Amino acid sequence: PKRIRTLDLQAAKRRGERWAMLTSYDQYTAALFDAAGVKALLVGDSAANNVLGYESTLPITVDELIPLARSVVGATQRAFVVADLPFGSYEEGPTQALRTAVRFMKEARVHGVKLEGGVRVADQIHAITQAGIPVMGHIGFTPQSEHALGGYKVQGRGSDRDKIMADAKAVAEAGAFALVLEMVPGAVTKVITSELHIPTVGIGAGPDCDAQVLVWQDALGLRTGYLPRFVKQYANLAEVIGEAAATYVAEVEAGTFPAEQHTFSAEVPHPPGQVP
Ligand code: KIV
Ligand code: NA
Repeated sequence: PKRIRTLDLQAAKRRGERWAMLTSYDQYTAALFDAAGVKALLVGDSAANNVLGYESTLPITVDELIPLARSVVGATQRAFVVADLPFGSYEEGPTQALRTAVRFMKEARVHGVKLEGGVRVADQIHAITQAGIPVMGHIGFTPQSEHALGGYKVQGRGSDRDKIMADAKAVAEAGAFALVLEMVPGAVTKVITSELHIPTVGIGAGPDCDAQVLVWQDALGLRTGYLPRFVKQYANLAEVIGEAAATYVAEVEAGTFPAEQHTFSAEVPHPPGQVP
């Protein structure tokens, strides 16, 4: 199968074809999502919350995210794989941003990187794309700045609309090949999507984006408890896994697992090809 490229994702926009993106942080989900037709996979810094158990995305490091990204790339044949640049690995300027992006390209062999921010990181996006590395932008609610934004809030309402439009244009002009819009009103998304030549990828941004992205543990129901309004659960993996684990425990405790078919016999096997 042929690897999906940025040009394919952009051609889809021109043809009016939508595409789906999911996060992935390991080889099994990566292979399953790739086979299911997920066009792009994001090794998000949301691995901080969803794999490593941190309370936000801020603590995760480049060294923690690179091995996860490598496992996703290695397990896919078609999907375009993007890794997030973690908080603190690109804010200092274009030199730091390019150095981090190059590490992801060389050590994880991802196909592009994503970073958060609009006008304020345009120089970083420019430097990375000039080096031949595809960049996905990310504006609206940007989790790495949750403390500055005052928590998980919709962005781009009212007079903030001008700011988000300026951010979208800055990201596109700096050379990004696609742009994530997170927690942006549907009407604002619609204008950005029609004004930009690059695909928009929505999460909590309504139906008018060119593509959609969700965190896989949210979409497949592995995460329980509070879920943001923009999540739809396509399965209940928490229930499936919880019940299977409880059945295993019960069978071990009852002595019904392992059974005979799971047990090796003491007979010496005949070497292959030799008539017994
Ligand atoms: O890290 C992540 O999962 C993301 C998506 C939610 C866009 O950045
Ligand atoms: Na992220």
